[in-house]
This record gives sequence, structure tokens and C-alpha cells, in this order.
Amino acid sequence: MSEIDKQFKKSRNQVNVTHGKVMKMKILTVIGARPQFIKAAPVSREIRKQHKEIIVHTGQHYDENMSSIFFDELDIPKPDYNLNVGSGNHGNQTGNMLIKIEEVILNEKPDAVLVYGDTNSTLAGALAASKLLIPVIHVEAGLRSFNKAMPEEQNRVLTDHISDLLFCPTETAVKNLKNEGIEKGVYNVGDVMFDSILYNIEIAKEKSNILDRLNLASKEFILVTIHRAENTNYKDKLTNIFNALKDSGEKVILPLHPRTKKFLADYGIDVGENIEIIEPVGYLDMIMLESAAKKIVTDSGGVQKEAYFLDVPCVTMRRETEWVETVKDGWNILVDSDYEKILDAINNFEPKTKKSNYFGDGKASEHIAELLKNLEV
Ligand code: UD1
Ligand code: UDP
Repeated sequence: MSEIDKQFKKSRNQVNVTHGKVMKMKILTVIGARPQFIKAAPVSREIRKQHKEIIVHTGQHYDENMSSIFFDELDIPKPDYNLNVGSGNHGNQTGNMLIKIEEVILNEKPDAVLVYGDTNSTLAGALAASKLLIPVIHVEAGLRSFNKAMPEEQNRVLTDHISDLLFCPTETAVKNLKNEGIEKGVYNVGDVMFDSILYNIEIAKEKSNILDRLNLASKEFILVTIHRAENTNYKDKLTNIFNALKDSGEKVILPLHPRTKKFLADYGIDVGENIEIIEPVGYLDMIMLESAAKKIVTDSGGVQKEAYFLDVPCVTMRRETEWVETVKDGWNILVDSDYEKILDAINNFEPKTKKSNYFGDGKASEHIAELLKNLEV
């Protein structure tokens, strides 16, 4: 048996949540993209009460306003490793992460590897750990769009199938996993992004001055975000979206993702005068913008949910969503990149029903930490 095999001979089948026996573990957290910093903040705060955590930043996002701003304002501990992988084609980016994460795992010998969501950083972290027979913990497991053309769908399906502990945000996610034969190690803990909003909204009201800075009156503007490859990578789709935003005549605030910035310039799309493009903002500014917006128009996963948490009607520029509860409840409408549908929804969409509670009790991170206390590896 090789040295590596000896070190990591623990079988993944040996991961169990036991009762009454409290374990202290070394958990290696792999994060790399904006939404993962936001998700990791509350979980990290909780798991550090019991366990040792090593944070690995893959470097997938690296601009100050896509990365370090979140560490600073959300008090996320500084990463122990930054792999500086940067941008690239999927295979190149994921492959480079895989090589580097494996080295870190061999060096740190963690008891478990923790990953979030559905980015290339998620898959690389899970795959590196799984190959070394280190238990994989997946937060935000079980989400499905059933659209295999999405890189995120590929990442989340693959990650779920090599995870040992699967922390789901909703009952739908639990059902999705069951339909794929995954039942062991599955827990509905609620949504960690709900925890994050509850924890930060009052802090944001105190600390953020973005509404004054941009001279915005509450409920007199529309907040827009666009970054999904299925929209940015097609000139006709991105053009439709910007034409609909322009023709809505509404005041639009658009914190622009660097991916979209690049494509807007490449395609030479004309941005209407009613659209104010700003740099990506920090989380506290973002949730202030969201809560003050009349409507939110987005293709982001996280932003759809935040609209729901903050009682703001959401228009989603996608054909399907993983967050089906928000649509079922009537607070979110799917409009794809269709000019007419986007325009109509901006002008006329209004929720008609009261919201339900699908996303847990705002203590998902505590539930995760509680389950991890009793993890036997
Ligand atoms: C990634 C995730 C997506 C997630 C999003 C959150 C994958 C496959 N996609 O998409 O699921 O919703 O993050 O925002 O993992 N760039 C910069 N500076 C940065 C980061 C990116 O300029 O700090 C530019 C580069 O041109 C890069 C492009 O944005 O090529 C795309 O970045 P990448 O991380 O590959 O994908 P995202 O679109 O950000
Ligand atoms: N967000 C932010 N600043 C911005 C845009 C988004 O802080 O300029 C936050 C947003 O509030 C949410 C998360 O980033 O918490 C969503 O990330 P993103 O839309 O990049 O990715 P997705 O959720 O679609 O994977």
C-alpha cells in the first residue's frame, strides 16, 4: 500500500452521524467564487466553535470587488491557501484547481472537505477529496435545474454523487437526491443564505450608504444582475435583455459582473440611458439595493432567493430555476431572455399570494455545525 493509500485508507462508507459522541475535526473548506464566500461566512462562524477549519481559496474570483471585499465585510477568516487559479476554460480551470487542491489535502490531511454550491471550485474540491477517500460535505446539495447544458448543473450533479454528507436547503432538494438514489447522509438544514440575510440586514442598514451614494429613492428603481453563461454567451440574447431594460423606461441599477462587462464590450451592445451600470458591490450594499428595489430582474441563483427573503418581486431571465418554490409561490416569474416577456414582467408582474416558508428557520449553519459535532469519520 502506498504512503498516500495508508494515510487515507479511511473509507467514505465509514462516515456516520453518531449520537452523543462529540468529535473535533480538521475541516478543509474549498471556496472560490462570490456566492461561496457569502455562503461560507455563517457556516464558518459556527463550525469554528467546535472544529479546526482550513480555508482554501481557489482564486476562481480574484478582483477586489468579487473576492476580498466579502472576506473583509463578512469577517470570513483569511484563507490559509490561495491557489490563484484565475480564469480559463472549464477543463483548464477545474483541472488546475484539482491538481492544487490535491496537494493541499495531502499536506493538511483533513478529516473532511467542505464545498458549497455548484461552481467549478465546488467540483474540483469534491473530486480531489473523493479521489483521496476524504469524506466530502456538500452545502446546498440537491439543487437541480434539469438542464445539463448548464456548467452548474454538471458540477452539482457530479458533486452530489461523490458527497458523503449532503446538506440540503429545501425539501425539494432532498426529493431530487432521492430520485437519483441518494438518501444516506442527506439532511434538510435550511438555506445558509437565509441565515446570512437575517444576520446582515440590520448591519447593512447601519453601515451601507449606497442608496445615498447613488441618489436612489426606495422603490423607485429596478435592480438588475446578469452573469449566467446561457445569457452572456449569445449576442442575440444579451441584446434582447438590454433592449427590454432600455424600453421599460424604468430607472435601472446594474452592478455589472466582469463576465458580462467583457461580453457587452465584445458585442458592442448599446446600453440605454436609463441604465446605470456600476461596479460589482459588496454584500451589505447589495442587500440594501435589493431591499429598496421595486423589482429585481436577474439570472442569479442567490439573488432570486434574496428577492424572496426581502419581499421583492423577482423576474428571472432563465428558462428554468432550481429555486422552484419562489415561482410556485408567485413571487418569481421565469421570462428567459425573451424581449416581450421581460418587458411585460417588468411592467406588470405582481405577486398575488402570501409567501410561505420553504428555506428553513434561519439557523441552517447552526444545524450544520450541530450535525458535524457528531460526525464519525
Ligand atoms: C461562476 C460560476 C457560476 C456562479 C458565478 C458567481 C462556474 C462554472 N460558474 O461564474 O456558477 O454563478 O461564478 O458569480 O464555476 N472575471 C474577472 N474577475 C474575476 C472573476 C471573473 O474579470 O474576479 C471574468 C473573467 O473574464 C472570467 C469571467 O469573468 O473569464 C468568468 O468567470 P468564471 O469564474 O469563469 O465564471 P463566472 O461567470 O464568474
Ligand atoms: N452579490 C453581491 N454584489 C453584487 C452582485 C451580487 O454581493 O454586485 C451577491 C448577492 O447578494 C448574492 C450573491 O452575490 O448573495 C450571488 O452571487 P452571483 O449572482 O454572483 O452567483 P449565483 O448565486 O448566481 O451563483
